[in-house]
Amino acid sequence: MQLSYIDTTDTDDVRTPLLALAVPKGGAPVTEGVPGVDAALVAAIDSAVASGDMTGRTGDQVVLYGSGGSAERVVLLGIGAADDLDAEGVRRFAGRAVRVAEKLRLEGVSISLSGLDAVDIGTASQAAAEGAGLAAWRFTELKAPDDDDPAVEVRTIRLLGAGDHDAGASGAMAGAAIARGANFARALQARPGNVATPTHIANEAVRMAGSVGLSATVFDEARMHEEGMKALLSVSRGSEEEARFIILEHRGGEEGDAPLVLVGKGLSFDAGGISLKPPAGMEEMKYDMSGGAAVIGAMQAIAELGVRANVVGLVPSSENMPSGTATKPGDVIGSLAGKTIEVINTDAEGRLILADALQWGARMKPAAMVDCATLTGSVIIALGHHASAVMGTDEALIEELRSAGEASGERCWPLPLWSEYRRQLDSETADLQNVGGRPGGSITAGAFLSEFVGDAPWAHLDIAGTAWGDGKLPYQRKGALGTPTRLLVEWVRSRAG
Ligand code: BES
Ligand code: MN
Ligand code: ZN
Repeated sequence: MQLSYIDTTDTDDVRTPLLALAVPKGGAPVTEGVPGVDAALVAAIDSAVASGDMTGRTGDQVVLYGSGGSAERVVLLGIGAADDLDAEGVRRFAGRAVRVAEKLRLEGVSISLSGLDAVDIGTASQAAAEGAGLAAWRFTELKAPDDDDPAVEVRTIRLLGAGDHDAGASGAMAGAAIARGANFARALQARPGNVATPTHIANEAVRMAGSVGLSATVFDEARMHEEGMKALLSVSRGSEEEARFIILEHRGGEEGDAPLVLVGKGLSFDAGGISLKPPAGMEEMKYDMSGGAAVIGAMQAIAELGVRANVVGLVPSSENMPSGTATKPGDVIGSLAGKTIEVINTDAEGRLILADALQWGARMKPAAMVDCATLTGSVIIALGHHASAVMGTDEALIEELRSAGEASGERCWPLPLWSEYRRQLDSETADLQNVGGRPGGSITAGAFLSEFVGDAPWAHLDIAGTAWGDGKLPYQRKGALGTPTRLLVEWVRSRAG
């Protein structure tokens, strides 16, 4: 997919098979100065609005045909009340434009950013690039092509903007890079556990790093033994697949500047270990590496955008399987931080692999450290599928993540980490145990992680409810959503100033 930004003040001839125009509620689309709209189309648009077929309500959609002008077709898309429009509204509008092109089997679409006045041109063009780029992504690599109904890929996306040229063009570039990062994450998420093994995830990260100029280091299990990553190794013990610890580094800041550290749970398949999960829905546990995928995707975008900050991405990657060599309930294991852990439930494995990764990150003396993980089912009970949970040791950092969530359309909402929750993890035999019972399950998981972050300003995102979904939004598809790639990139960019 190729995305470009065209300044409509520079050109009046954009040949396009489909032009998407936004229609505000009770209003009409802006056609003045939009290239490609000939007199016949203007008349047809006026009729569509006058007839009441196009009211501008979100979801309204009308396709009209030109007569030889440079736009072969126009799709009018209702965007709701003009004053209520925000970046997320633009993302959805652009996503719908791509979906219409796909449905009509067109390889290209031009999306007009005129009339989106409640949002500044830089924000609008970034959001449109994200929405269009995300909508164009599909996961087809494991299916034979359908010869009777060949899928058409929307290859060429043009954003037509007016106003501040630099803001429009750089917004489009940023949005396209962010969408590529999120789509890279989605491909890793969508691949099943027998394909996206820890070794595969590490190889993909290394390949990507080479192409965008990140430095990459991968630890195998022998190296993890040397380093003392006992908690990570305790999870991998039950599996034939070797674990990997992936380190990606972007040196965009001054040498010696404290890095921002991103950590993502890369559990390539979670069977639960000896505390085996029930069969129903277990196949979905291939998405238990979504946090790791988002960190890898975010690092790609951060490198492509040349963000002026030092950023490190850490991904502990393992399977969680039952076998004769697997860690058993009641076992006491060590950790990189030196703390001993009583494993009450081997299905609470994410926090174990993160414990060592967070300790590794803490030793880098980061300016801030953020982890994301499909950590608990109970976060879905708390917040449903509309927000990730955020918790941590630093209120200002949590606030930054909340605003990055709003701006990126990947919202997060805070949960408390009071010391009473930590006490639910007190163990008879070890420094702490890995589960704290059902009450406050997402919070006690966060409290567990907090034991391994040293004094780094740290926050944790529980993305179990947001990384995978029904794909109801126009720029989504069922399954892999790439969350929270966009949030992470937004946060890092806000930190870099
Ligand atoms: N990967 C799961 C959490 C999860 C559940 C992610 C549903 C996505 C959807 C995690 O490893 C897990 O099994 N957590 C347990 C913790 C419990 C044993 C304390 C859970 O949530 O049930
Ligand atoms: Mn588990
Ligand atoms: Zn898990």
